[in-house]
Amino acid sequence: MKKTVMVTGATGNVGSILVPILAARQDCVVTAMTRDPVKNADRFGPAVQLANGSFEDISTLRAAMPGVDTIILMAPPGPDCVQQNRAIIDAAIQSGVKKIVRISAIKAAKDGRTENTRLHGECDALLQESGLTYTILRPNYFMQNIFMSLETLKADNCFYAGMGDGRLAMIDIRDVAESAVTAAMTDQFDGEVLEIGGPKSINFSEVAEILSDVTGRHISYIAVSPDDVRASLLQMGLGEWMAGLLAEYSAAYGDGWGDLVTDNVDRLTGHPARNFREFTADCVAPLLS
Ligand SMILES: NC(=O)c1ccc[n+]([C@@H]2O[C@H](COP(=O)([O-])OP(=O)(O)OC[C@H]3O[C@@H](n4cnc5c(N)ncnc54)[C@H](OP(=O)(O)O)[C@@H]3O)[C@@H](O)[C@H]2O)c1
Repeated sequence: MKKTVMVTGATGNVGSILVPILAARQDCVVTAMTRDPVKNADRFGPAVQLANGSFEDISTLRAAMPGVDTIILMAPPGPDCVQQNRAIIDAAIQSGVKKIVRISAIKAAKDGRTENTRLHGECDALLQESGLTYTILRPNYFMQNIFMSLETLKADNCFYAGMGDGRLAMIDIRDVAESAVTAAMTDQFDGEVLEIGGPKSINFSEVAEILSDVTGRHISYIAVSPDDVRASLLQMGLGEWMAGLLAEYSAAYGDGWGDLVTDNVDRLTGHPARNFREFTADCVAPLLS
């Protein structure tokens, strides 16, 4: 029998890759949740049902869930994420959903290193205590975050970051998406909490070397302080909370906090995690040619 899987955050960075992977399978029916089904009507094609849902309105969440077996739960980072996750978990329990696969964040813990880490830790605990079957995936820093620097890469062959020489096992979101699909479609990882990352820890000087090598440009990493990261993000119009979060993460990653290599992507997807060179060739080079 086909499984019915609903994806929240379906139009986001991970969701927009994950939904088509699920939709290509013969063994599931996919519902993509969005606050704007009209705008997203043609986004995923006819194989994907769209559901109108907002984390702030539990009635929309319940209305989206009849017949759903499994939810892949993604919510954007923000100060309200605990209430948002609680709303989805409560609606899932009330609607008879059996399982939630939650995309959390590296080293999530209630007493974790950054505010976002602590919020994700609280959300993970809510799910673990809910009585629902769960798998929790805790991704490292996304390789695709480099797209935030696309403008300076294109114009000046450089990117700015506040991570100093910190090494991190950054992950390609294609591997996050594939890992979540396996966790949703099998019971093999039920009850597990899995840190997922790339195959190797690298620092941002190595990132610049790989970008240069693959694109044929001479790309430089310009190291700035976490305070400078915060100030320039505020100047670019990002809100206080998000600018503070990215500065806090920069300091943590600069201290080597992201230097965590596991074999969990291999276990989940059946192939090694993509490295930064593959990511650059597939996803960055076409944008810089
Ligand atoms: N970036 C990283 O390096 C990193 C690393 C580890 C973990 N993570 C975590 O990975 C998760 C997924 O990240 P992402 O970048 O894919 O997320 P994202 O792009 O920020 O996507 C969030 C999606 O959530 C939906 N959304 C926003 N507010 C909503 C609300 N109030 N109610 C319902 N839906 C709402 C939006 O869809 P609509 O507008 O269509 O409703 C949006 O497309 C996040 O929890 C993040 O913290 C990120």
